[in-house]
Amino acid sequence: MASSGKAEGSQDAARLSSLFPGVVWARHFPLRFPDGSRIECEDFDAVLPFIAAHQARAFGRDAGRGRFDVEPFDERKRLWLRFACDCFVFIGSAGEPFGIFIGNPVDWSTYCFRSVFVLPEHQGGGHYQRLLAHLIEVLRACGVARVEADVSPSNQVSTHILTKLGFKVTGTTLGERWGALVRFTLHLDERAESIFLDSFCDGPRPQPRKIPTKGDSP
Ligand SMILES: CC(C)(COP(=O)(O)OP(=O)(O)OC[C@H]1O[C@@H](n2cnc3c(N)ncnc32)[C@H](O)[C@@H]1OP(=O)(O)O)[C@@H](O)C(=O)NCCC(=O)NCCS
Repeated sequence: MASSGKAEGSQDAARLSSLFPGVVWARHFPLRFPDGSRIECEDFDAVLPFIAAHQARAFGRDAGRGRFDVEPFDERKRLWLRFACDCFVFIGSAGEPFGIFIGNPVDWSTYCFRSVFVLPEHQGGGHYQRLLAHLIEVLRACGVARVEADVSPSNQVSTHILTKLGFKVTGTTLGERWGALVRFTLHLDERAESIFLDSFCDGPRPQPRKIPTKGDSP
């Protein structure tokens, strides 16, 4: 599926993120781990078979069960995922894919962590947190002001990880496509964060702390 050593930026040039925020992902990936696994930036079309085969199991349900409005996987959707989104694949030491992450620019200064799953048997290894931390640093360096992620209120793992990384709750939505969602935002721009805190938060200031991730050195 994914291979290292691609010509730098050959795939990036076709993506929206090459303009906003202006990132060449090939310069920042693969992200390698001590256990021999890695995460690569990959074309959406190349990872689609993996997503189709494993998404329902990874989410613990059938995405087409009919409770919400599941839009067909038509050419518009495919084009949008191909050009507007950045796709990253988790690859084990034996070369087997074991997870997928999709993000996309929302506008000129906002990036969205859109979707992710790691196969259940590979969960808990800390790869996902490290990917997010890496993406955040790259996006910060590119001048992105905020990163957003929408999470189901029942998703305790995602809520834990985003909170650990410094995201704050900035809203909630109800929709016909994904039900209730909690909006998390990480401000990468101090001024933007101050405006948010001064305008809307009457509680204590954020309390950042370093919580070790599995595999971190003591
Ligand atoms: C969300 C997901 C990608 C995380 O993958 P992962 O491999 O478990 O992630 P990591 O190993 O990096 O981190 C897991 C963290 O969650 C914590 N965690 C595990 N179970 C938890 C629970 N029930 N409640 C709260 N936190 C929990 C772990 O302790 C760890 O945090 P720590 O390092 O502070 O101890 C994975 O759970 C998944 O694929 N879930 C199904 C799909 C999904 O929910 N996607 C997100 C919505 S689009």
